[in-house]
Amino acid sequence: QTSLKSAYQKDFLIGTALGTSHIEERNETANLLIKREFNAITPENIMKSEVIHPEINRYNFDPADKFVEYGQKNNMYIVGHTLVWHSQLPRFVSKINSPDSVRLFMTEHIKTVAGRYAGKINSWDVVNEALNEDGTLRKSVFLNKLGEGYIKEAFELAAKADPKAALYYNDYNIEQPAKRKGAIDIIKKLQASGTKIDGVGIQGHWSINTLNLKVIEDAIVEFSQLGIKVAFTELDLTVLPNPWDLRGADVNQNFEGSPKMNPYTAGLPDSVQVTLAQKYEDLFKLFLKHKDKISRVTFWGVNDGHSWLNGFPIRGRTNYPLLFDREFKPKLAYKSVLELKSAK
Ligand code: G3I
Repeated sequence: QTSLKSAYQKDFLIGTALGTSHIEERNETANLLIKREFNAITPENIMKSEVIHPEINRYNFDPADKFVEYGQKNNMYIVGHTLVWHSQLPRFVSKINSPDSVRLFMTEHIKTVAGRYAGKINSWDVVNEALNEDGTLRKSVFLNKLGEGYIKEAFELAAKADPKAALYYNDYNIEQPAKRKGAIDIIKKLQASGTKIDGVGIQGHWSINTLNLKVIEDAIVEFSQLGIKVAFTELDLTVLPNPWDLRGADVNQNFEGSPKMNPYTAGLPDSVQVTLAQKYEDLFKLFLKHKDKISRVTFWGVNDGHSWLNGFPIRGRTNYPLLFDREFKPKLAYKSVLELKSAK
């Protein structure tokens, strides 16, 4: 096999998250790789409301238009990310007080954004990260002002604005039992009220140290029993320690600049490279086992250099969570994911 997208062509889509520099084709190596390896794209930031709708009556469509054009030109499956999210909201939203005004903002926003790209976007992350870890609904301007019905309202508005797009609920850690139950509640309520929902996006921001295949498999099975598709929408595997694991003992410690938190500045040691490859192989084996339930696997970024994980949760870390290195060369993990298919 010569690329991820061709190797997995009969199984599920293989996607990546793109930013402005990618769609403007500023880096030729990156672009050749994107076009060779991926058949689905998600905008990492440019369709978030803060970017696309910076002021109450002003939209910034230019980057999103270019993103959609890029996808169309290259025959890619185009994901919209995301219509309703508590984070990266435009500033003016925090000044909105009445429920009616929040509803007006949400309605206008979905109508305008999903409407503009109707027929061009293949699927929308309609609501993003509405849940707390314990499965209860997260406090947000939407929940606080509109109550839990905002989720249904958002899905209805999206379906109306773009009847052809597949509509997804997207969140992280929803493979974990308590949060999964919250997601299942959301989906069941939508279905019970006759509201269109086509799939669930499990983000997949995981770690090579704690990856739990059993929990992921249970989630795939349980979600698909609801009659919807499962997508892995933001996959990456951090190789670095999680500072939150040390909370309790070190609550007040400032980890910034701590070598313990950023151990691989000189490159990823072979042993960790091998572990990463093994974890990706295990994951893709599981995905293949359930390929009938999975619509798409999207990596959150093209290569290690561009990953958000270099800055999270501590600034300036050097992370290696993806299949391509800082020079856009395929890593061992790439080979293991690809060879899973050519072995057969
Ligand atoms: O582009 C601006 C720049 O002009 C400005 O000077 C600079 C100063 O802060 O910020 C730049 O924007 C940053 C943007 O990434 C582009 O690099 C934002 O601050 C920064 O917050 C933003 O981070 C993004 C993050 O979402 C925001 O919440 C990450 O790139 C993006 O990977 C991440 O993606 C999220 C998904 O949307 C939802 N699921 C979790 C995932 C990871 O957090």
